[in-house]
Amino acid sequence: MLIKSVALITGLMALSAKAANRDNFPPLIPSRCEASSDLVFYPYTLENDISRLNGVATSNGDTTIDGFTIDYDIPINKTTITEADGVYQATPDQISRVNMRSKLAALAYCPSISHKGRWDCSNCVEYVPDGVVNATFVSQDQDILGYALVSDTMETIFLVFGGTFETADGEPRIDFNATSYTPVEYTNDLYELYSQTQEDVIFTIQDLIEDYPDYNVDIIGHSLGGAQAEFATLDAYQRLEQLTSSNLFLTTFGEPRVGDKEYASYVAATEIEKIRVVNGRDLVAHLAPMDLDFVHGGSLEYWVIDNETDFVQICENKLESNECSNSIVPFLNYDDNMGYPGLSSDVVCA
Ligand SMILES: *[C@@H]1O[C@H](CO)[C@@H](O)[C@H](O)[C@H]1NC(C)=O
Ligand SMILES: *[C@@H]1O[C@H](CO)[C@@H](O)[C@H](O)[C@H]1NC(C)=O
Ligand SMILES: *[C@@H]1O[C@H](CO)[C@@H](O)[C@H](O)[C@H]1NC(C)=O
Ligand SMILES: *[C@@H]1O[C@H](CO)[C@@H](O)[C@H](O)[C@H]1NC(C)=O
Repeated sequence: MLIKSVALITGLMALSAKAANRDNFPPLIPSRCEASSDLVFYPYTLENDISRLNGVATSNGDTTIDGFTIDYDIPINKTTITEADGVYQATPDQISRVNMRSKLAALAYCPSISHKGRWDCSNCVEYVPDGVVNATFVSQDQDILGYALVSDTMETIFLVFGGTFETADGEPRIDFNATSYTPVEYTNDLYELYSQTQEDVIFTIQDLIEDYPDYNVDIIGHSLGGAQAEFATLDAYQRLEQLTSSNLFLTTFGEPRVGDKEYASYVAATEIEKIRVVNGRDLVAHLAPMDLDFVHGGSLEYWVIDNETDFVQICENKLESNECSNSIVPFLNYDDNMGYPGLSSDVVCA
């Protein structure tokens, strides 16, 4: 499988972020590190409650993890969207905006980009013709791969992360240890992974926004890379005064849950636009499970009901909605984590 083969690649980073002044890591800005006083009410039982209504995952000879199936491949039987408060169908513009970001996320798995910092592949120059890779980010075990890309015509600094969510046996990871986090009590141990690239990430953004103060900072990630993108976004917001909810954006694809409701309420309270795209039955978006006290925070879920026809439902909610991808638990699969635009077949890196 694609992600596994990328994770096996060894070799040195040809390009790593090196800024002139690495002694002054920007400190946290206290006013941006206060827990939200508006703690959103959230029942962690929601996922289990819906699962109970939808039925037990036994038909179909399904394999289950933690009460969810990991291989349920029957298409979602839904052809219309019942619009309600905060629930509506995505427009073609909204879809093409996130699909372009998904394709950039897919390219994070290309060694020529995330190891060598090149932007000469045919898809690269098609998606962002004037892109220049400014830095790359690779964690110790190469489970995180990322790059920073600058486009003058788009006036955008992209930070893009991909990452494998598989354990050594090729299964999704299900162990999540608590890790302390500012300003709330904890996230899970996916934050430890972010710490490995934290300095490079923050120094890179700091240098770039100094030279390009009017550009947007657009942070993107797929799967485990989605968690990294979220931590990078919050970290940049907490340390760099120039970044606000008007120039900092986060888009994730098949992102796992990384924190509890205090954490999620903090994410929502920053008011940074966060689009969390979930393809169909993607299992990763439901891990760590809610019954371990995890929940997604942020404003918008784009649930891809049919990825062949770009049929996408949007749910607006400070934390999670029960109208989008939560509506089909426990019938999930792991393949849909690879069904985002640009990833579907093999990522074309040439
Ligand atoms: C799909 O849903 C409709 C209405 O909810 C139902 O009538 C139909 O039998 C379902 N089809 C399948 C294949 O489950
Ligand atoms: C990255 O951007 C910074 C800020 O503009 C610049 O000083 C540095 O030379 C760039 N590095 C590369 C490798 O392009
Ligand atoms: C994290 O969890 C795993 C699996 O439950 C366990 O083996 C490991 O020791 C834990 N690590 C820490 C640092 O607690
Ligand atoms: C849709 O997702 C599936 C995996 O669930 C993938 O095999 C397929 O290629 C995807 N289709 C498109 C158009 O992305």
